[in-house]
Amino acid sequence: MNTTIEKLLNDQIKYEANASMQYLAMASWSDSKGYNGIAQFFYSQSEEERVHMTKLVKFVNERGGVVIIPELAKPIDTFKSLNALFKKFLSSEIFVTEQINKVIFECLEKKDYNVHNFMQWYVTEQLEEEAMARTLLDKLNIIGEDKSGHYLFDRDINTIANSSGEE
Ligand code: FEO
Repeated sequence: MNTTIEKLLNDQIKYEANASMQYLAMASWSDSKGYNGIAQFFYSQSEEERVHMTKLVKFVNERGGVVIIPELAKPIDTFKSLNALFKKFLSSEIFVTEQINKVIFECLEKKDYNVHNFMQWYVTEQLEEEAMARTLLDKLNIIGEDKSGHYLFDRDINTIANSSGEE
């Protein structure tokens, strides 16, 4: 495996792991504030990011590369509002998308079509996750400070999230 691509894939392992821990911290914060629906949503997002990370670990090993299991960043664990929580969700997803684009760019530069093909799954996944994060933030912006709106958002988060692909 090309060493630049190997390094980028190892970086991506770290970004997915950081996202998993960040969403775990967001789930725990939501849980502590009584937003059980939002907590479940982020527990599940955290699990998904862990799957993204593990998929990369297995792929690099299958391709004969060297995996470096990374040290992780301390996640942000307190939020001023639900709006701040979901802004963090969107910015985290945008960051991951940008990093995936860097991997794709390098794959084309180095003509590594195998890794390029593998990364297409991540491109599709990011499109969906970014759209979902934007939809949720848009809804929160409509709700504003309305407490009963927050109650309904917490209750209906999965329905709102799943509607993001239909627009
Ligand atoms: Fe796997 Fe949403 O980053």
